[in-house]
Amino acid sequence: MKDHNWWRQAAVYQIYPRSFADSNGDGLGDIRGITGKVSYLKSLGIDAVWLSPFYPSALADGGYDVDDYRNVDPKLGTLEDFDEMTAALHDAGIKLIVDIVPNHSSNRHKWFKEALASPKGSAARDRYIFRDGLGENGELPPSDWVSVFGGPTWERITEPDGSPGQWYFHIFAKEQPDFNWDNLEVRADFLKTLRFWSDRGVDGFRIDVAHALTKDLEGALPTRAELEAKGADAEGFLDGSHPYWDRNEVHEIYAQWRKLFNEYNPPRTAVAEAWVHTDRRPRYASPEGLGQAFNFDLLQADFDAAQFRTIITKNLAEAAASGASSTWVFSNHDVVRHATRYGLTAATPAGEGEIMAGLAGKEWLLDGGRREDVNAELGLRRARAASLLMFALPGSAYLYQGEELGLQEVGNEIPDSERQDPAFYRNKGVEIGRDGCRVPLPWTTEGSSFGFGDGGAHLPQPEWFAAYAADSQAGIHGSTLELYRAALRLRRELQAVEELEWIETGNPKVLHFNRPGGWQSITNFGDTPVDLPPGVVLVSSAPLEHGKLPGNSTVWVR
Ligand code: GLC
Repeated sequence: MKDHNWWRQAAVYQIYPRSFADSNGDGLGDIRGITGKVSYLKSLGIDAVWLSPFYPSALADGGYDVDDYRNVDPKLGTLEDFDEMTAALHDAGIKLIVDIVPNHSSNRHKWFKEALASPKGSAARDRYIFRDGLGENGELPPSDWVSVFGGPTWERITEPDGSPGQWYFHIFAKEQPDFNWDNLEVRADFLKTLRFWSDRGVDGFRIDVAHALTKDLEGALPTRAELEAKGADAEGFLDGSHPYWDRNEVHEIYAQWRKLFNEYNPPRTAVAEAWVHTDRRPRYASPEGLGQAFNFDLLQADFDAAQFRTIITKNLAEAAASGASSTWVFSNHDVVRHATRYGLTAATPAGEGEIMAGLAGKEWLLDGGRREDVNAELGLRRARAASLLMFALPGSAYLYQGEELGLQEVGNEIPDSERQDPAFYRNKGVEIGRDGCRVPLPWTTEGSSFGFGDGGAHLPQPEWFAAYAADSQAGIHGSTLELYRAALRLRRELQAVEELEWIETGNPKVLHFNRPGGWQSITNFGDTPVDLPPGVVLVSSAPLEHGKLPGNSTVWVR
C-alpha cells in the first residue's frame, strides 16, 4: 500500500537548479549537479525536493519563461539525466515535485512563434491573448495596466507583412506571453505535460502563479484607476471579478487536473502558488483542487509572537476546514532570505529599530540592499528560531536551498551589469530584484566558486560566502546545518496527528505549544531569557543560558 498522505507533513526542499551545483563547469547549475548531491539531501532529512524550472529557456525570468514544457534545458542536461536524478532521489527515499508554469510560455515557445507568423484572428493567435490597440491606428495599448515586473502588460507586435500590429498580454516580462486558457488546445496540452512528467515518476507539482490562468479581457477594459477604485490590489478582488487575478473559473481547470492526478498511485500532489486574499486560498488547496496552497503569511510577517500566533491559528483552521494540510515557508527564490530579513535594521545599532522584516524584505531591496543595514548575526539567530518553530508545526514545511546553511541574501554587492532579474531591468533604478537569493551555493570554504563548480558562478558570490560553506558546518555541533539535520530527523520521529495546543505563557513575547505525543515547542521572541517547562531538551536553536531559553530562540522539550 503506497502512502497517499506523504505530502501532508512533508519537509520539502526547493532547488533553484541553475544555482545549486554545477557538474560540468560552465558556471550554471545542472541536473547532474543535483544527482551528485543526493546524499547531502538525504543526510539533511528532507522528504521531497521541489525543483524550480529546468526546461529549455532563454532565462528572461530565471527559467519561468519556458520554451518547451516536456524537455530539459540542454544547458542543464538531458531527459536521461533527469531520469537518473529522479531514480537517485527515489532510491534515497526522497520524492520529487516539479514546477509547472501554466500562465505563460516564453516568447520562444513554438506556439508563440507560430502566433506571430499567423494572421490576426487565426487559431494560432487564439492560444495567446492578442488585441487590437486603441487610438486611431491601434498605436495605444488596450489598457494602461502595469506588469508585475514594471512597464505595461501589453506589447505591440509587428505583423508578418511588416506593419505595426496587434498587442499581446503579459502579466510578467514581455518575454512571457500569457496563454489564453479559454483555448481548448492550451488546456489539452497542459494535461499532456502533467502526464508526461507523472509518467516519468514525478510525485507532484508546484503550480506557478496558479491564481492567474483564467481571464476576462474581452470588450472594453477598465482602467487601472477604475480597478483600484473598486479595491483591487495585487491579490485581486474578493469576489473573483478582477480581470486577471484569482478568478473563480480557474478552479474548473484544477478540478480537471485533480482527476488526472488521482489516476496515479499514489495520486500526484500539487501545491498552488497563489498570492490571493487568505479567505480565498482554501479553494486552491481543497482535495477537489490542487490539494495544497502556499501560505505566505509567515513569510510576510515580522519576527513577532503575536503575528505568528494569529497566522498559525488561522492557517491551521483553514487547512482543516478545506481538507488540506497547512504549508509554511520563510524563504524562496522570490524573496529576501529570512536570515537577512530578520536582521534588517534602519541603519541603527544592532537590534534596534527594525522596521523592515515584514513584506518579504521588499523595502530593503527598494532601498538598494545595503549590507550595512543588516545585522546578520541577529537575523540568523532569529531565522534559526523561526525555522525550528516551523518544523514543529503540523503541515508541510517548504525550505529554500541555502537556508540550512544560514545563508544571507546578497545585496548591493552584485554589480548592475551582472544582474539577471527582469524585475531589475524593467524597474531600473527602483529595485535591485531577486538575484540576491539566487547566488550559487557555497559548498566548500576553498576552491573555485566555493565548490559550486569548476567554472565560476553565473551570479557573483561574495567573499563572505566562505563562512557559510556546507563543509565548514557538517559535523559541527551548533552549526545551522546540524540544527536543520537534527530538527528534521526529530520531526520525522515525532510526527503525529496534525494538531497543536497552545499553552498560555503569560508572556506576550513567548509562544508555547504542545504536539500530540507529549512534546512541545517554545519560542522566545523577546530578548530576556525565560524559564523552560520540565522535561528533556530535544533540540534548541541556541545554547540555553543557565537552563533558561535565551532571546530570539526556540527549543523543543519532551
Ligand atoms: C512566480 C515565480 C517567479 C516568477 C513568476 C512568473 O511568482 O515564483 O519567480 O517570476 O511566477 O513566472
